Amino acid sequence: MSIEELEFFLDIATEAALAGGAELISYWGNLQNIQEKGSPGNLVTEADKAAEEVIIKVLQRHLPEHGILSEEAGELGSRKSRYLWAIDPLDGTTNFAHQYPFSASSVGLLIDGVPQVGVVFNPILEELFRAAKGLGATRNRKPISVSKTTTLQKSLVITGFAYDRRETTDNNYKEFCQMCHLTQGVRRSGCASYDLSSIACGRADGYWERGLSPWDIAAGIVVLEEAGGKVTAYNSSPFDIKSGKILATNGKIHDLMSKALIETPPLAHWNTEY
Ligand code: IPD
Ligand code: CA
Ligand code: CA
Repeated sequence: MSIEELEFFLDIATEAALAGGAELISYWGNLQNIQEKGSPGNLVTEADKAAEEVIIKVLQRHLPEHGILSEEAGELGSRKSRYLWAIDPLDGTTNFAHQYPFSASSVGLLIDGVPQVGVVFNPILEELFRAAKGLGATRNRKPISVSKTTTLQKSLVITGFAYDRRETTDNNYKEFCQMCHLTQGVRRSGCASYDLSSIACGRADGYWERGLSPWDIAAGIVVLEEAGGKVTAYNSSPFDIKSGKILATNGKIHDLMSKALIETPPLAHWNTEY
């Protein structure tokens, strides 16, 4: 993929995410229609749908031959294309419904299955994260890079809990306790794309989560990797976007965090002697 092509796709992703964000802002504090879908607490609103419509319009106008995977609309366009846009028009719907300001439009492009272009736009805090493979990452058009933290004791880390947490024992509760114990703090923003972007700009040092979909993380992965971060499975093996399980760090605490996650004791046998 040439630099010119990646820049072209990055501009289109930016146009789409900004359009989605503008749509979201028009519903901020003014939602009329909040519904649950699937698991309890998994919300969808008219803002999700309106933002999705404008994002898809932008992509289809510029790139009608590309495939699209969007949270509410599902799969659109060619399934044979090398290019797949993974879109979360409103990442952080629960936050948005409560006017908690961590929500974003997330637009990522996978080329041959690999995330290569990503834009995450939080229209409430007016933060625009952009990246493309080999071109670096920016926040509001200024270069960003990951933190320099090298120990868990000095780290601030982020996680989240999927909507199926009441239906599975793999609910991230024990890992959450483990990381609370080992680090300076664990945050849960409720917006995966923004979490990855927060690691990318050095506000926090590591992020892990399970139960994610490609649209939650495709764009943020590119932002983080281009800011110098590392993305793998919990056990440090190569990341598989379909697994829904991600360990994403500044690179320097990656092995420590991986070890802590895979060696997490069961809650009943919690060891307070760390
Ligand atoms: C959710 C958010 C949240 C994460 C959930 C996601 P949504 O996306 O990214 O941080 O913990 O697993 O599903 O439903 O607000 O688009
Ligand atoms: Ca999401
Ligand atoms: Ca969403």
